[in-house]
Amino acid sequence: MSLATKSFEIFCGTGGVGKTTLATARALNLSQQGLRVLLITIDPAKRLKDILGLTSESVGEVTEVSLQGTKLDALLMSPEKTILRMAAQNKSPDLASNRIVQILSRPYGGMNEILSLIELQLRFESQRYDVIVLDTPPGAHFLDFLEGIGKIRSFFDQSFVEIFSYLGQKTAKAGKKVLGLGLINRIVSGGVKKLLGYLQSVTGAEFIDDFVEAVQIIYQSKDVFLKGLALQDRLKSRTQCNWFLVTSVEQGKAQEAIDLKGHASHFIHQDHFLVLNKCLEQELTEWFPGDPKLIKVKASLEGKERHLKGRLRDAFPTVLEFPEIISLSPVEHIQYLTQKWKTYAT
Ligand SMILES: Nc1ncnc2c1ncn2[C@@H]1O[C@H](COP(=O)(O)OP(=O)(O)O)[C@@H](O)[C@H]1O
Ligand SMILES: [Mg+2]
Repeated sequence: MSLATKSFEIFCGTGGVGKTTLATARALNLSQQGLRVLLITIDPAKRLKDILGLTSESVGEVTEVSLQGTKLDALLMSPEKTILRMAAQNKSPDLASNRIVQILSRPYGGMNEILSLIELQLRFESQRYDVIVLDTPPGAHFLDFLEGIGKIRSFFDQSFVEIFSYLGQKTAKAGKKVLGLGLINRIVSGGVKKLLGYLQSVTGAEFIDDFVEAVQIIYQSKDVFLKGLALQDRLKSRTQCNWFLVTSVEQGKAQEAIDLKGHASHFIHQDHFLVLNKCLEQELTEWFPGDPKLIKVKASLEGKERHLKGRLRDAFPTVLEFPEIISLSPVEHIQYLTQKWKTYAT
């Protein structure tokens, strides 16, 4: 098995399996090797945030974290801040105040995946890091998103052309002020007119203005979007990116990981790793119950875990195991998992 250093490391998996915890431990492990590391993370548990010293002010900003005698940069994703950075690059200061953009950038508004990718691109361009570790939103969304990149490209290439031909060329070039509804009514035809008319009846004319402005703003930022999308070629490359699919020894989770791999098969290269978290084997072998009932419980737990590992080893090229940590304090917990990464790092 080779866990060579690459420019990117991506952690994906369903919710609650330990992505954020293991991505953090991995980032620490890499930084202990002397590498300049950035950890981009989403929704860390409060306990982990405390350990990293991330406060509410540091959300969305690169923050230096000092832990276990090593330093690394951490960035807790904030869609609003990424949008502001994009706006600064495009000199479109209105971006973040537009209500449609605000809705899209809510945690489940659908923009998080592309924003993580854009953040990854911006940080990669800064050339400040040897490795960027990315903790992705739970589930298959990130992978779906990566697979859908072709569609997003053609969205910019084709859909915008269509939208603008409806809204009038001026909109594409216009500065801040958007076309008034009256003018739109004259230009817009067919389906789009119907849709806007419907939106107006339920949301009011201001919403339509915001809608048109959002289309315009997103279009103005298209270079940043497309550059972010271009990053996918690096992520697909086995020399540039380590992929970690995370799962845990829990009912149903193994199947979710196998499904996720199926989902990702067009995207993730074949040298990916399955990270199996919360293994009980170590605890179980050190447990010698006297009570006959507990002896059966132990045997049953061991049997289940063995079965699950067998399935996963059949489905994945490489399985990395991490134990369920039961009796350590939160800091020791991360410390232990960081050490565990070290054992895989050769
Ligand atoms: N190896 C482990 N042993 C024990 N608890 C763990 C382990 N890994 C993660 N956890 C705990 O599981 C919960 C979910 O972990 P988290 O990293 O937030 O998962 P995710 O990011 O996949 O949603 C947290 O409470 C975390 O402390
Ligand atoms: Mg998480």
